[in-house]
Amino acid sequence: MSSICFNPPIIAHRGGAGCAPENTLAAFANAKTCGVTWVEFDVQITADKQVVVFHDETLDRTSNGTGKLVDYSYTDLLTLDVGSWFSSEFNNERIPLFREVMQFLAKENMAANIELKPQRGQEEALIIEVIKELQQVALVQSRMLFSSFSIPALQCLRHYAPQYWLGLLMDKWLDNWYELCQTLQCVSIHVNHQLLDLYRVQSIKEREKMVLCYTVNSLQRAEELLAWGIDAIFSDYPELAQKILRK
Ligand code: G3P
Ligand code: MG
Repeated sequence: MSSICFNPPIIAHRGGAGCAPENTLAAFANAKTCGVTWVEFDVQITADKQVVVFHDETLDRTSNGTGKLVDYSYTDLLTLDVGSWFSSEFNNERIPLFREVMQFLAKENMAANIELKPQRGQEEALIIEVIKELQQVALVQSRMLFSSFSIPALQCLRHYAPQYWLGLLMDKWLDNWYELCQTLQCVSIHVNHQLLDLYRVQSIKEREKMVLCYTVNSLQRAEELLAWGIDAIFSDYPELAQKILRK
């Protein structure tokens, strides 16, 4: 079993999307104040191959831009406001570079679950750019866990940078999860919590994989999952960490 330590066992999902605009430096700073160590965020590449932190394929939901992110250069994306849609107090937020987020996390002694979100056909391009960036960041390897729904992206990272920890993301139950994990040498399964029951959690743990689940915003559900043996929970509300610690 890997020696990743999730303490507290709450991971701020997209930095804590319930408290600040998702995947922004404001969200990661808020996660720090909530006492979490681990944050999850999504990475993609721009038209000019910059690695940025952003969830959707398109800009429309979480910015004042429109269209596909991949059609824009980073310089163009920097003109967009990615905070006001959430609240006017965040109107200075811009799409962060992967590098900026990693620098922040290193400075704050935090840890990163980096979700690789390649557009179809861009898996290798994304991984190559991510690996280049990793050569510049100070965050230590034991504080990084990569994950993806994209099997080609995971294969590519395993091939080019075999030293990193990988997690397999599942939004539907895959009966061949263990074979996939073994082939990709994944240390963890990251699964929608609605797909889990005690039996499935135990079967994952018996095979010496960590099990993480998303997205859980209720304390009661978080406690139930932790009692089943879940290693960590992605939540939009990182303050759950304190409530769990206090009990
Ligand atoms: O990594 C867990 C979770 O973030 C996966 O789904 O769509 O929120 O990126 P999504
Ligand atoms: Mg994600």
